[in-house]
Amino acid sequence: MIIVLAGTPGTGKTSLAKMLSERYNLRYLSLTEFVLEKGIWIDYDAQRRSFVIDPEGVVVEIRREIRKVYRGVVIETHDLELLWEAGIEPLRVFVLRCRPDVLYNRLLRRGWPFSKVLENIEAELTGVLAWQAKVYFPRVACEIDTTLAGVNATVERIARNIENIEKDNTICQSIDWVSDEDVVKFVINLSLKHSMGY
Ligand SMILES: Nc1ncnc2c1ncn2[C@@H]1O[C@H](COP(=O)(O)OP(=O)(O)O)[C@@H](O)[C@H]1O
Ligand SMILES: [Mg+2]
Repeated sequence: MIIVLAGTPGTGKTSLAKMLSERYNLRYLSLTEFVLEKGIWIDYDAQRRSFVIDPEGVVVEIRREIRKVYRGVVIETHDLELLWEAGIEPLRVFVLRCRPDVLYNRLLRRGWPFSKVLENIEAELTGVLAWQAKVYFPRVACEIDTTLAGVNATVERIARNIENIEKDNTICQSIDWVSDEDVVKFVINLSLKHSMGY
């Protein structure tokens, strides 16, 4: 059994993936940690504070790793294209979402440079991961809003969906922050602040 948790940083992948892997006795695999452990990166972008991966190497290593997993695995990632290229066939791809103003507060606590926070807020506003999920894993994609629910309530919703995979699609949502005028204004103000050098 392969469960994928995808989403912009700060949406709750690590918290929820660890809880789910314990609950169902599955292996926990963070794609970012995996890439670092295996050294499958080619550069470090100091400005963006992120590693530049070697996509072909990552695909080969993921394939190899998944073949070794016996009981199953919960994978967290912010890049679904790589999993698709590796030919992974998940039971479910949960795309965790968080309203950008709330996500902003979660990311501020990480001490990241403002440009990195903003980049992720904009990615969440436009819904890049939800779009990737629909393109690469259309039959099993399921969006979950984590903005107001706590971690425990969210884990229960996901668990209910996994256990009733044929019947229960009621927890999957269609989230569109771009249609929320207040949210768009919030993100525009942030990027204006940034471009004016705050
Ligand atoms: N409903 C929720 N689901 C998941 N995380 C939540 C939720 N509400 C608040 N949070 C908080 O948001 C943060 C998410 O961080 P983390 O799990 O590291 O996300 P990611 O791995 O996606 O970067 C945690 O501090 C978590 O407690
Ligand atoms: Mg994480």
